[in-house]
Amino acid sequence: MLHGGLGSGKTTLVSEIVHSIGSSSPVSSPTFTLIHHYDHAFPIYHMDLYRMDTVDAIHYLDLDTYFNQQDALIFVEWADRLGPFYPKEYFKIELTLTSKKRTCLITAKGTTYQSRLKKSSLRTIKNL
Ligand SMILES: Nc1ncnc2c1ncn2[C@@H]1O[C@H](COP(=O)(O)OP(=O)(O)O)[C@@H](O)[C@H]1O
Ligand SMILES: [Mg+2]
Repeated sequence: MLHGGLGSGKTTLVSEIVHSIGSSSPVSSPTFTLIHHYDHAFPIYHMDLYRMDTVDAIHYLDLDTYFNQQDALIFVEWADRLGPFYPKEYFKIELTLTSKKRTCLITAKGTTYQSRLKKSSLRTIKNL
């Protein structure tokens, strides 16, 4: 789940992660296409909900079909738009950009994601 204003680096981060895990699919912003699917050993979905500003619009996308796929890696830009459709467990990545610095805060909801975050080497990283 990606949070952060316009230009804070959400799409760039998705691109870096997708390529770092070995997919050679070109990554681009799904602002108008809503959902991109990238080729990899497992499905990778990249969503941008910027234009989805009503609960009805989100409902229409039937996102549970994606969220229920156990082996899928899913990135959601503008995840705050999910409202009642926000999944129960997830990693949350909050990006901020000011004139002086960029920050990236990663938190986890639910025991599965919390233990993954604990096992990772991620700690406090400043001034990315
Ligand atoms: N970590 C970073 N360092 C420097 N420039 C960045 C970084 N992340 C993104 N950018 C630049 O900021 C601009 C907006 O990034 P983008 O990923 O499209 O933001 P968002 O998806 O949040 O709107 C792009 O020109 C991109 O190259
Ligand atoms: Mg973007």
